[in-house]
Amino acid sequence: MININENYLKLKSSYLFADIARRVEKFQKNNPDREIIKLGIGDVTLPLPLACVRAMHEAVDEMAISDTFKGYGPEQGYAFLRQAIAGSDYQSRGADIDPDEIFISDGAKCDTGNIQEVFHIGIKVAVPDPVYPVYVDTNVMAGRTGSFEKGRYQGLVYLESTKDNGFIPSLPDSPVDLIYLCYPNNPTGATITREELARWVDYARKNKALILFDAAYEAFIRDPELPRTIYEIEGATEVAIEFRSFSKTAGFTGTRCAFTVVPKNCRAYDSQGTEVSVHGLWNRRHSTKFNGVSYPVQKAALAVYSEQGQKQVRANIDYYLTNARIIRERMGKLGFECTGGVNSPYIWINGKKDSWSFFDDLLNKAGIVCTPGDGFGLCGKGYIRISAFNSVENVEKAMERIEKAL
Ligand code: MLT
Repeated sequence: MININENYLKLKSSYLFADIARRVEKFQKNNPDREIIKLGIGDVTLPLPLACVRAMHEAVDEMAISDTFKGYGPEQGYAFLRQAIAGSDYQSRGADIDPDEIFISDGAKCDTGNIQEVFHIGIKVAVPDPVYPVYVDTNVMAGRTGSFEKGRYQGLVYLESTKDNGFIPSLPDSPVDLIYLCYPNNPTGATITREELARWVDYARKNKALILFDAAYEAFIRDPELPRTIYEIEGATEVAIEFRSFSKTAGFTGTRCAFTVVPKNCRAYDSQGTEVSVHGLWNRRHSTKFNGVSYPVQKAALAVYSEQGQKQVRANIDYYLTNARIIRERMGKLGFECTGGVNSPYIWINGKKDSWSFFDDLLNKAGIVCTPGDGFGLCGKGYIRISAFNSVENVEKAMERIEKAL
């Protein structure tokens, strides 16, 4: 008899964004003439930067000629891209990251979901609340939690991010081993200062814990005082893994390219308490289960670091930040408390009512799709998330419709 992994039965019936897509599809079916504006899932709308498109075309041409054709590439990624990332994203900011410590992949979602495989089943895991559901669900699948009761999985430590703590959780009051942090935050849009991040790094060093730092929205940071990588914090290479993505940075949600930094001195421990290199474990996992990102896509990602690429990427992000400002200002004028939307593409809005009712109101009355806050956890109750990923015209139109409807 073929038995299943029963941990899957503990999961809520579907992934948040699949749930929303189903509701929207149903609404559209029942209202075929209504035009819907999607400000829900954080999916980019601007096309790829021209520098990336050109580089991808050239790489495709190389694949058409036997002298330059490429078969399997290195599982960890081509050296040209790893070197560009190490130099531009880390060494230029004083973070001592070597190209060998960078693993190219097809998405931060996959990497943040897969990384937990290299850790013991019995570790104590801390997740933020509200939380990007992937961190939680992948630990449920692995069997690190009990059942889902009253909105939370038994056995996980939830780090509450609320208005009262400025959406930066306090350090856990019971010991934890693995800590997920995401800044600029999805879903709240909150950012973290160097001092606040240093508290977490100190905690991890003192408690032999490890931080999984999701920095997928790093490119949205415009405030020069904010850290752009956790490795700007002293000692962080010993206790932190960082996840980045070209998805939101350069419009790669459909093209797929991301990377994870696992420093060579980043440590975890075996059952005897002996230090083990996490880099070695992740390298083993990655080269066994992953066959690399395609050559044309890695060439396109490399173009992000060219002079033209940098200008074009910045212009795209500025465009979304303009949307974020419009949403934040207009929702604020309607009397809603808003967080995020500055140094972040997400605006976290206190709807002062049940999140799904607010979601339904916006959909039914205004034809706008948002993301209900309680889909991200108990602390999201009463909130919605509006994403800035759409055209300025659609964002203006969406705000006019919301103003009329509410
Ligand atoms: C979101 O809307 O939270 C993101 O698009 C999800 C993701 O990047 O996987």
